[in-house]
Amino acid sequence: MPEPLKTDTVTGLLAEIADVGRDRQRGGYSRPVFSAAERDLTGWFTAHAERRGLDVHTDPNGILWASMGDMSAGDCVVTGSHLDSVPGGGSFDGPLGICSALVAVDRLRERGIAPGRPLAIAVFPEEEGSRFGVACLGSRLLTGAIDPDRARSLRDEDGDTLAEVAAASGLDPRFFGQDDGTLAAMGTFLELHVEQGRGLVDLARPVGIARSILGHGRWRIAIGGQGNHAGSTLMADRRDPMVTAARIVVAVREAALTYPDARATVGRLTPIPGGTNVIASSVDLWLDVRHPQDEIAAAVVERIATEAGRMATEEGCTVQVTEESLSGTVHFPAGLRDRLARIMPESPLLDTGAGHDAGVMSARVESAMLFVRNPTGVSHSPEEHVEADDAEAGSIALADALQALLTRG
Ligand code: HGY
Ligand code: MN
Ligand code: MN
Repeated sequence: MPEPLKTDTVTGLLAEIADVGRDRQRGGYSRPVFSAAERDLTGWFTAHAERRGLDVHTDPNGILWASMGDMSAGDCVVTGSHLDSVPGGGSFDGPLGICSALVAVDRLRERGIAPGRPLAIAVFPEEEGSRFGVACLGSRLLTGAIDPDRARSLRDEDGDTLAEVAAASGLDPRFFGQDDGTLAAMGTFLELHVEQGRGLVDLARPVGIARSILGHGRWRIAIGGQGNHAGSTLMADRRDPMVTAARIVVAVREAALTYPDARATVGRLTPIPGGTNVIASSVDLWLDVRHPQDEIAAAVVERIATEAGRMATEEGCTVQVTEESLSGTVHFPAGLRDRLARIMPESPLLDTGAGHDAGVMSARVESAMLFVRNPTGVSHSPEEHVEADDAEAGSIALADALQALLTRG
């Protein structure tokens, strides 16, 4: 006799995965794509989806789909998010959207809603781009926003390619790429996500509706110098890439400060070989630049690249700046956005500086986002937080939106 279906709570579901992928060294969670931790999470999600009578399958791009009704009939209402994390990330970035989707399905069942359209929950792989360097890799593959050959050859820190790692995880990388069948099946995509800022805190509201996503890109800055002994190399004889890297990090801040609303960050820097008593032979650092206007983001990067070239030359080093991923600013379509605002008139419209799969999907499928209040306003950190009441309010808002979309109103 199958156990009677109960309505889970978002907080309860999050508690079930609270020990998966804990990073004892950094704090928070490190759940890279295709890692054991992420595999545990997708297995956990699959069990919960199947318990709710959803059909679960993984598509050729590694996106996990849990559907109610025949997706191939088209006009499917899709919700979902991601389960991978940044290194040392918080509990909610990604999983909040997945848990809220499961609870929203419970609420629709409780309400006796008979969907007039197929419904699916999607789990997108590598949203953070933390392992292979390109953010929203799964949704970019699905929508054709990245060349599959380039995707297959992306390498992680161990030098393993996405093709090798994906194949070891049961996918066939030969089938990566734009999936017109799945895109045709999708009618609407609605992603719920923790707010990664203080907008809802300042507005004293639990739930918000996305208006735009800031354009953002990532560049790799590779600096070449002369590796040598820290003790036997006189200061005048050095070509130290770490000194160039340090100057570039400061130049990044200065370049961003010259353009109002620009954001530029170096959060990752890798010296080779990385010994305490060794002058590095090379240093890689990664640049994240964001601005509402794409041309200004480009101007910030241009300024940084010029400064980096000058600083490298002064140190006798070389420098190479390579774009790794780029997304223009996304303005969500007003029709769906305003329809959500009519369903939840208390929920304010918010712009976000954080990227999301919904931003990538929006190029091909009518998409929207709901945000849930984060009292700390901090994200990509263990300090990210959502109060239980707000988490439930988010799942109710999501259920209300799905109900309206599923019952053709
Ligand atoms: O980087 C971002 O904005 C997102 O969290 N992937
Ligand atoms: Mn996210
Ligand atoms: Mn994130």
